[in-house]
Amino acid sequence: MWHDQFPLRPGLVHLNHAGVSPWPRCAHDAVVEFAAQNLAQGSLDYPHWVQTETHLREALARLINAASPDDIALVKSTSEALSFVAYGYPWRPGDNVVYPLHEFPSNRVVWESLAHRGVAARTVDIRQAADAEGALLEACDGDTRILAVSAVQYADGFRMDLPRLAEACRRRRILLCVDAIQQLGALPLDVRDLGVDFLAADGHKWLLGPEGLGVFYCRPELRERLELTQFGWHMVEDMGDFDRADWRPASTARRFECGSPNMTAVHALAASVDLILAIGLATISDRISRNVNYLIEKINKIKGSFIVTRTQPGRLAGIVTFGVDGVDAPCLYRRLMTAEVLCAQRAGGVRLSPHFYTPESAMDEAMERVVRLSRDCGAG
Ligand SMILES: Cc1ncc(COP(=O)(O)O)c(C=O)c1O
Repeated sequence: MWHDQFPLRPGLVHLNHAGVSPWPRCAHDAVVEFAAQNLAQGSLDYPHWVQTETHLREALARLINAASPDDIALVKSTSEALSFVAYGYPWRPGDNVVYPLHEFPSNRVVWESLAHRGVAARTVDIRQAADAEGALLEACDGDTRILAVSAVQYADGFRMDLPRLAEACRRRRILLCVDAIQQLGALPLDVRDLGVDFLAADGHKWLLGPEGLGVFYCRPELRERLELTQFGWHMVEDMGDFDRADWRPASTARRFECGSPNMTAVHALAASVDLILAIGLATISDRISRNVNYLIEKINKIKGSFIVTRTQPGRLAGIVTFGVDGVDAPCLYRRLMTAEVLCAQRAGGVRLSPHFYTPESAMDEAMERVVRLSRDCGAG
């Protein structure tokens, strides 16, 4: 089903799905077809484009098990969705928000930016904590309104115990806001089963979509508690009734979508998410787990290597970050990229992130290059 979907150039090894993923052939074809339509007939078939958009909402709702596509807002980025929460929540001076110290800037800067409203941003160094969730919960107190975490940490791949956090947040009446960009499309995530309050993710990583289109889920009961921060023709209840003088925000999550949708990305992401749903997250996450463990085994065979990523049961997702004693990580990263092994430099090491379709032969090839190029970066 997927074997012809990733015709990457021979010799190129893509181990950066935690960065920006390649598109599958189906997404490529959808955009080519969309461009051809635009060229030949403009927006003649706009109603069909809207059907694709509707389909994408349905597919994303299925992906995270939201109760309804009405709970899904299409957003331009994770950062935008997190900003809807940060700037929509009815804070009172003295409130605080708790999050891990080494979060990706999208899930850090937005909370820090609330200082002028008297909201304290409390960070917890979970890398140093034996019990990451315990440390986060310990940092919460009676003034904590939101606990914001990435489902999977971008740099070292640490997978958060979301069920434990969600349960504790519910008990303590703290809202749980999850940046799911490093999990959606790689591992299952069920917003209703968990009881997640807010979820944000762009589509360009494990979902195999383009940059610039993502998903924002807001638990329906909370929708009206978030003050809106963006306005336009598309977010009103009676969208399309342009002559109407009075208006109110849409009752659905469309209220967070102020203007025209990113239709090119809609076509691509709809194709990618369909592919992911057709293969199934059980299969995908099994294969990712096998690939990550395969890489770990290979890395462990390299003299002087160390794995930055915590490998305890339940903590691995799609990321393995590693280093080699005496090898300069920035140098190794640069050499690998020049040798067409797509990877990233993170958490003091080199981050590899295979997807479900990544063949063993590609990982073997990448690890051979790691061994060879390490010699140019300080290893004897
Ligand atoms: C945890 C995390 N959040 C967010 C992003 C990207 O944010 P945005 O979708 O706003 O570009 C990344 C990208 O690396 C990430 O790793």
